[in-house]
Amino acid sequence: MQICVIGTGFVGVVTAAVFSSFGHQVIGLDVLPDKIEKLKQGIVPFFEPGLKELLQEQQKTGNLTFTTSYEDAIKNSDVIMLAVGTPSSAEGAVDLKYVFSAAESLAPYLKPNAIVAIKSTVPPGTLNSVAEKIKAKTKTAFEMASLPEFLREGTAVQDTLHPDRVVIGSSSEAAAKTLEELHKSFKAPIFHVRPESAQMAKYSANAYLALRIAFINQVADLCEENGADVMEVIKVIGADRRIGDHYWYPGLGYGGSCFPKDVKELAAYSRTVGQANNLLNHLNLINEERIPKLIANWGSKLGGWNGKKVAVLGVAFKPHTDDVRESPALKVVPALLADGATVSAYDPRVEASDMVMAALSGGSEAHAKNVSLSNELLTTIQDADVILALVEWPEIVEFDFAGKKPSTAQWFIDARNQFDAHTLTKAGYNYLGIGRPSHA
Ligand code: UGA
Repeated sequence: MQICVIGTGFVGVVTAAVFSSFGHQVIGLDVLPDKIEKLKQGIVPFFEPGLKELLQEQQKTGNLTFTTSYEDAIKNSDVIMLAVGTPSSAEGAVDLKYVFSAAESLAPYLKPNAIVAIKSTVPPGTLNSVAEKIKAKTKTAFEMASLPEFLREGTAVQDTLHPDRVVIGSSSEAAAKTLEELHKSFKAPIFHVRPESAQMAKYSANAYLALRIAFINQVADLCEENGADVMEVIKVIGADRRIGDHYWYPGLGYGGSCFPKDVKELAAYSRTVGQANNLLNHLNLINEERIPKLIANWGSKLGGWNGKKVAVLGVAFKPHTDDVRESPALKVVPALLADGATVSAYDPRVEASDMVMAALSGGSEAHAKNVSLSNELLTTIQDADVILALVEWPEIVEFDFAGKKPSTAQWFIDARNQFDAHTLTKAGYNYLGIGRPSHA
């Protein structure tokens, strides 16, 4: 089958490379010539484990090519997957401008009965509006489907190769059958549902996971009031098979390019349908308040941030990615600088680009001189008064902080509950975790 994937972000590049590995002819399309030039040379413009290798392997087979030309990409394609970005508007609602402009651009070149499948996260009703945009530009018959994506950054290739489920939302039997055939190689359960259900399933899956994180963080806050250890609580309640102890480590709230955005979009959608007093509207607020509250709470324990040298470990929003969108560090570091601290930050993958440094200093030129970023952990913690571990990168979690304790370091803040409190306390740190008793 010939497939065109429009949009070469995380979802687009991974999807294109994976379908190509199943023997299909895949053309990746993007309107940005620089991006396409890089991809043609086998360069992935972001870090995602295993993706560069898969991409280059597939390019060698000749199954996977890239172009900026809609005509070349669309004219022979049986299935066209839209994986373009869907930024949020200022009010939190989804902005579909890229989805619509891709729909209008592809329309004139459609092969009869081609399937246009939307992978981007879009609200219910979008299939109809996209179909209208296409119909306004062509008389050729085509089919529509919703094909939501559930991959995570950092494990995107494995998640795509081995999904928990495939969701096909189409009201056309022919399109559903073709897409089922296309997805058989994944050997995963396939759900045929209404397009609206597919879209609600995507939003709800993310919203539920976000809710789970917010819930356990609030339980952790309560534990801090009474001497309970939230990690013990998780073990106990997780033994209930209806609940489970997976995907439940407390921390800094959820970040990244998906959860904050999808929760806000579903909340905005709930308001447009007259359901303003919806759980999702509160969830977003709880998440936004989390980091400022933690900073204030830690600050009060260690006698204020003013004049402290803080080593902030982890700048990406999570391990195994260099993505800093909605990353905790970009909220934590500007707040520490504003409170008078000096920050040396570390991340194994994030580079000290102008964009990252401006974000870390909160856009303040006055604060910029008080923050640095390095890919070297040991030098980052030298001279630190406080070590603040934000991300559970293996490079951070496996580091011997007890053995290599800087003489200046008095405090160790474990914002992901990844470290052994007793070992660190014995080594001379005052240990602070999330929802755990103090071991000082
Ligand atoms: C998320 C979903 O997990 C994917 O299924 C979905 O396809 C994707 O969004 C998307 O919509 O494209 P991702 O944003 O890559 O994937 O990251 P996750 O690993 O799910 O983590 C999201 C955030 O939750 C991170 O900030 C992470 O640190 C936080 N988190 C996760 C916790 O605080 N505690 C946990 O137990 C798990």
